[in-house]
Amino acid sequence: MTDDLEVVTETTQLVASKVSWFPPALSTDPPTPLIKMPGSKRWLCPALQHTIPKYLAQTEGRFFEPFAGSAALALCMGARGCKTVISDANADLMRILAAAKASPADYWHALEQWVAQGIEEADYLAARGFAPATAFSQAVRALYLARLSFNGLWRVNSSGGFNVPYGKAATRAFPSLEAVYAVSKALETAEVYSANFQQTIAQAGPGDVLFADPPYLGTFTAYTAAGFTELDTAETAVYLKQAAKRGAVVIVTSPQDPAVAVHYEWAYNIALGKRHIVAAKAEARVTYPEAIYTNEPDLVDLAALGAYLDATPVVDEPEGNVPTD
Ligand SMILES: C[S@@+](CC[C@H](N)C(=O)[O-])C[C@H]1O[C@@H](n2cnc3c(N)ncnc32)[C@H](O)[C@@H]1O
Repeated sequence: MTDDLEVVTETTQLVASKVSWFPPALSTDPPTPLIKMPGSKRWLCPALQHTIPKYLAQTEGRFFEPFAGSAALALCMGARGCKTVISDANADLMRILAAAKASPADYWHALEQWVAQGIEEADYLAARGFAPATAFSQAVRALYLARLSFNGLWRVNSSGGFNVPYGKAATRAFPSLEAVYAVSKALETAEVYSANFQQTIAQAGPGDVLFADPPYLGTFTAYTAAGFTELDTAETAVYLKQAAKRGAVVIVTSPQDPAVAVHYEWAYNIALGKRHIVAAKAEARVTYPEAIYTNEPDLVDLAALGAYLDATPVVDEPEGNVPTD
């Protein structure tokens, strides 16, 4: 299977490059992310998809997502005409977006070829142990694995090897060509790259919006070989506070946890109540109260959030001074 995959991938690129395909009229609805990431913030789109594009149109700023994962929110903003900067320390996840952006039809056809080779557990395990040579093939493998893995998880061991078991039949669905094309269109003016959060947050300045969704302490953090520590959580808050001081709008999602809250005393706190998020063990899901910290609560549409949560959340004032530029 391993050798077959390699041959098919190369052939696919030759065949796929001849494919001509006319894109449909694309709507400004948030595109469906290509991977179903546990912890996806797609549910936040209604609360931000009107306010933020309007704000960025005025400031001519960019929307930064430095813990992008499936980039649910950046796709939502990109479809509404915002310039986006999308990064994540997980290079595989960023390769998926980069391939979809650059050549959606080729990418979809290459994925189709992998799927045609088989999607049973043995095929999945063969793909899991296979290391494609090109970034394009790595992107195809990544999407194939992410769509077949248990609960759509992307988890790696300490050497960076993907190690999620095979998923249930119900999750074995692959994006349509239209879905890949919609993602590509939403990424048209996007910068997509793999980086640690510090590099991307440091670029945000006056008029920009930074949406940060770091791994939640005490839950699943093995997205990358390095994991995500208390120190990383504290450092994220320091970088975000500096960005706020430079004049960026900062919106952070977090567990409602005093160990995190202590780093965001300079921000408004929007308590979201209990939500299901992914647990440390792939087999379990836990319920945590979550929060949004921000220096600009007016950009969060509380009515839209309330409709989703079944209760309008309350905004708590910052305990310290909100940074100003
Ligand atoms: C909760 S997920 C983000 C999910 C995303 N909001 C979505 O809608 O799909 C957290 C992300 O942070 C990334 N990450 C972990 N450590 C990082 C680091 N040091 N720098 C940048 N990204 C990191 C993980 O790879 C993961 O994709």
